[in-house]
Amino acid sequence: MTIDDKPLGERNYEQFAARFAEAVQTKPANALYERPATLSLLPAELRGLRILDAGCGPGVYAEFLARRGALVDAVDVTPDMVALARTRLAGLGIEVRRADLARPLDWLEDGRFDVVLCPLVLDNIAEWQPVFAEFHRITRPGGCFVFSVMHPMTDWELSGAGGSYHDREFFGLAWKGYGDVKPHLQSYRRSFSAILNPLIDAGWTIDHVLEPRPSDALKAVDPNFYARTARVPYFICIRAIRR
Ligand SMILES: C[S@@+](CC[C@H](N)C(=O)[O-])C[C@H]1O[C@@H](n2cnc3c(N)ncnc32)[C@H](O)[C@@H]1O
Repeated sequence: MTIDDKPLGERNYEQFAARFAEAVQTKPANALYERPATLSLLPAELRGLRILDAGCGPGVYAEFLARRGALVDAVDVTPDMVALARTRLAGLGIEVRRADLARPLDWLEDGRFDVVLCPLVLDNIAEWQPVFAEFHRITRPGGCFVFSVMHPMTDWELSGAGGSYHDREFFGLAWKGYGDVKPHLQSYRRSFSAILNPLIDAGWTIDHVLEPRPSDALKAVDPNFYARTARVPYFICIRAIRR
């Protein structure tokens, strides 16, 4: 396999998997902004629900779900993330599998899950419609799909706002907040309609769109990020229903 064959997500996260695992637990943007927003879209009662944590990273979400009685399967494309998740989730009865979400999830049977959860992963994937179609196949009728991605306004700003808003754009950025050696991550920016339409085309019914507002708890620990997110959302969180 050459570097170019490697899935983008793996190239991105193999640079700093352990540092990400350490930071994501407490980093205000995750712990006090993205996670509370995304979790608010899940069913209130998780006990007994079968949930796929798609792009589980080090397993923070999977652990949260399993400790509340959900039956969790987890996948991630980055081998170091899979190893970190296996360590974190040991003893919780969760299978963590290495897989690329851009490819068919053919080991998972139709209608297996009550919920597919995919936080902060899809920006690493160019074509979403096949991914959403696979998630649709493995979710039972009435089940839901919850995901978060970069907000299109913020991504537009971070990408330099040089190209056309309407076009999907591939761009790179050095990420702050993970130590002196900054990881350089590349991702796909897309418009709001390009986030929603592949979902609809794959058969999902959009149920709720959340542009998270910052909380007082966030203001207390990170006033700059609070001010930024009070002006424009950093992420967007979406719940869709499988009819
Ligand atoms: C920002 S981290 C988010 C981890 C976790 N969902 C969370 O919010 O704590 C992105 C994760 O997506 C994974 N990922 C990226 N592209 C992927 C793909 N095509 N298939 C599976 N996992 C992918 C990366 O390896 C990384 O662990």
